[in-house]
Amino acid sequence: MDRFIAAEHLEMVFNTARGPFHALRDINLAIAKGEFISLIGHSGCGKSTLLNLIAGLILPRSGVLLCDGREIAAPGPDRAVVFQNHSLLPWLTCFDNIYLGVERVFSSKESRAQMRARTQAALELVGLPHAAHKHPHEISGGMKQRVGIGRALAMEPKVLLMDEPFGALDALTRAKLQDELQTIVTRSGATVVMVTHDVDEAVLLSDRIVMLTNGPQATIGEVLTVDLPRPRDRLALSEDPHYAHLRAGVLEFLYRRQAHPQVTLA
Ligand SMILES: Nc1ncnc2c1ncn2[C@@H]1O[C@H](COP(=O)(O)OP(=O)(O)O)[C@@H](O)[C@H]1O
Ligand SMILES: [Mg+2]
Repeated sequence: MDRFIAAEHLEMVFNTARGPFHALRDINLAIAKGEFISLIGHSGCGKSTLLNLIAGLILPRSGVLLCDGREIAAPGPDRAVVFQNHSLLPWLTCFDNIYLGVERVFSSKESRAQMRARTQAALELVGLPHAAHKHPHEISGGMKQRVGIGRALAMEPKVLLMDEPFGALDALTRAKLQDELQTIVTRSGATVVMVTHDVDEAVLLSDRIVMLTNGPQATIGEVLTVDLPRPRDRLALSEDPHYAHLRAGVLEFLYRRQAHPQVTLA
């Protein structure tokens, strides 16, 4: 099996004012190059923690965590992160927000013209060439998220890490961006790890869904392979019995096997 990203016996403990908090326990996961993985689980179980470990934003207490054969010890341009709330700089245009990321990665090897071309290509990839000269406050939430994704992809990362990237958007915008993301990811060939708590989003986009148990000491409870052919069409899938079966598998895990203490089952 291709082990482009590999976690072995990964443990995460946070030091808090009230003592150590054991967030993740014995995480073992191998992700192949080009795979689309979703992390799903109840709020507070440790999804963002696992994503931040892969991003290199935090370091594990113990265990092995590798990307492309090298230990993840710090953030790097090979692993771009998109957060739920876009992190665009308000005083820069959409173009300049992306250019800033491009410059960070390519300034030592490429001319300004080449970097501008990259930036333009990224804006086109996410369908925003017309918004190049707008500032973040002049565009919608969905457009801001697209700029964030464009900026991440413009850096040509090996891995695209997304933490509930569409969580703050309305349902229609979210659906549109999910569809676009499918196309963009196929074109870019990036390996993707996405945190979500949206079951339909996970089934629509993923090759595998990694389901986390409730914390503390959350771990991987189950991994579901989504063997639906691509490209996936949400309307056709809504009537596909296999889609319904996969969706039910995730719901079963979340609401029966890992029912949140506050949730009472009918
Ligand atoms: N920096 C931190 N310090 C202490 N505890 C943390 C820190 N970050 C996250 N946690 C705790 O770890 C658990 C998992 O958090 P998180 O990964 O953000 O959950 P999720 O993204 O699944 O909602 C939670 O109980 C949270 O309070
Ligand atoms: Mg989170």
